[in-house]
Amino acid sequence: MSDVVGVVLAAGMGTRMKSETPKVLHEVAGRSLVEWVVQAAMDAGASRCVVVVGHAKERVEETLRARFGDRVAFAVQKEQRGTGHATACALPAIVGHEGHVLVLYGDCPLLPPALLKHTIETTGSADLGLVTARIADPSGYGRILRSDGAVTAIREDRDCSPEEKAILEVNPGVYCIEAGFLREAVELLDDDNDQGELYLTDLVATAAARGRVAAIEGDMATLRGVNDRWELAQVGQGMRARINEAFARAGVGIVDPATTYIDADCEIEPDATIHPGVHLRGKCRIEAGAVIDSGSVLTDVVVESGAVLLPYTVASESRIGPKASVGPFSHLRSKTDMGEGSKVGNFSETKKTVIGKGSKVNHLAYVGDGQIGEGVNVGAGVIFCNYDGVQKHTTTLEDGVFIGSDSQLVAPITVGKGAYVASGSTVTKDVPADALAVSRTRQSNKEGYASRLRARFQAAKKKG
Ligand code: UD1
Ligand code: CA
Repeated sequence: MSDVVGVVLAAGMGTRMKSETPKVLHEVAGRSLVEWVVQAAMDAGASRCVVVVGHAKERVEETLRARFGDRVAFAVQKEQRGTGHATACALPAIVGHEGHVLVLYGDCPLLPPALLKHTIETTGSADLGLVTARIADPSGYGRILRSDGAVTAIREDRDCSPEEKAILEVNPGVYCIEAGFLREAVELLDDDNDQGELYLTDLVATAAARGRVAAIEGDMATLRGVNDRWELAQVGQGMRARINEAFARAGVGIVDPATTYIDADCEIEPDATIHPGVHLRGKCRIEAGAVIDSGSVLTDVVVESGAVLLPYTVASESRIGPKASVGPFSHLRSKTDMGEGSKVGNFSETKKTVIGKGSKVNHLAYVGDGQIGEGVNVGAGVIFCNYDGVQKHTTTLEDGVFIGSDSQLVAPITVGKGAYVASGSTVTKDVPADALAVSRTRQSNKEGYASRLRARFQAAKKKG
């Protein structure tokens, strides 16, 4: 197979999205539409891709560069004069390229690389190969015109005669075009159509007149383009099903695929279990034996082997070590690092804190900017007072420390190895190793005082 270059058309605004964001940057499973298309072209064997940009071109370029680096180049289409014109704009970027050019639209995220590869192979030495598909409601799509079975042209929906409108075979927009033919044929395009644009689809008639068209049938379910938010949602559903199925077939427990949202850049090892209503966003890694229970939302989180996230855990940019346990209803903010077998429980919040092996933050606590050693117990309602209104300060709890419930540790502060902080203390000074820190008023009991007090209150109430 000779060298194939991808050309992806992504200059349009996509007005039907009714969005400040250009259409091709809307996301499906954590990647923009155009990233999906460029990835598919590369997976199908394109050595590099030229992306034609126009609307919000800086944003589109930045997004693609971040993922693909130098494997993408950009061509600018200043005015959107149609898909044929957009393709012509890419030609200077592929000067000298011999072989075929895979031309795709930047709004078809489901394109399967295998189909693109098959299209390249089937096109062989023909001038132009294209994918066609049958669809129940063809409105909006270009129709495939055939004569004696052979493709002769594509007619755009708005240029169709009533008979042509009834054709159910449509153009999803996947083309493999020989570079020399492409250079010659775009020169011949005219704008003699309802929109006054240069149509890429007119190349099909030119190639067909020379008897050099190859057509491949594809499945419309994988070829859908996105024009509005409803189509975006539907394509999202298709992508989700594809991702969930791949994980399930690879041995991941996906309890309810319909409510499981996993971004494309997540990794999950076999024998992890994902319960209903879970969202894994960005780049999560879930190791074998981990369980993510219902309603948990994780962004860029690593969950190591055998860790358990009870329902409704929200976590981002954190590591949850092997056999650790989180939740229910815990919030791990960025740079939380939980060691092996550690625990963060009900209604606790953590941020930028290392929690050592076997340590526990089980109930209603806030630990921010902390260094917690091994075997530490942080009691219910403990607060790391890390912020003085200007700066953040560190709380260090050495190995084996016990912090009694409802204590406040005013940072910067260190509690030494094995020390004990009595419940209800406000600790403002370092605590030496093995010491007991108590900072609360001493308790005094006044015997029989409660009933006297009650009697006094009742008398006051009677008096009015
Ligand atoms: C196009 C096809 C139609 C096909 C349909 C499939 C043409 C003339 N028609 O129509 O046969 O059935 O896709 O979805 O090609 N773009 C540019 N510059 C432009 C115009 C478009 O870069 O000047 C880009 C858009 O950003 C988009 C893609 O090309 O990513 C397709 O454009 P769109 O306007 O959606 O084409 P359709 O009218 O849907
Ligand atoms: Ca379209």
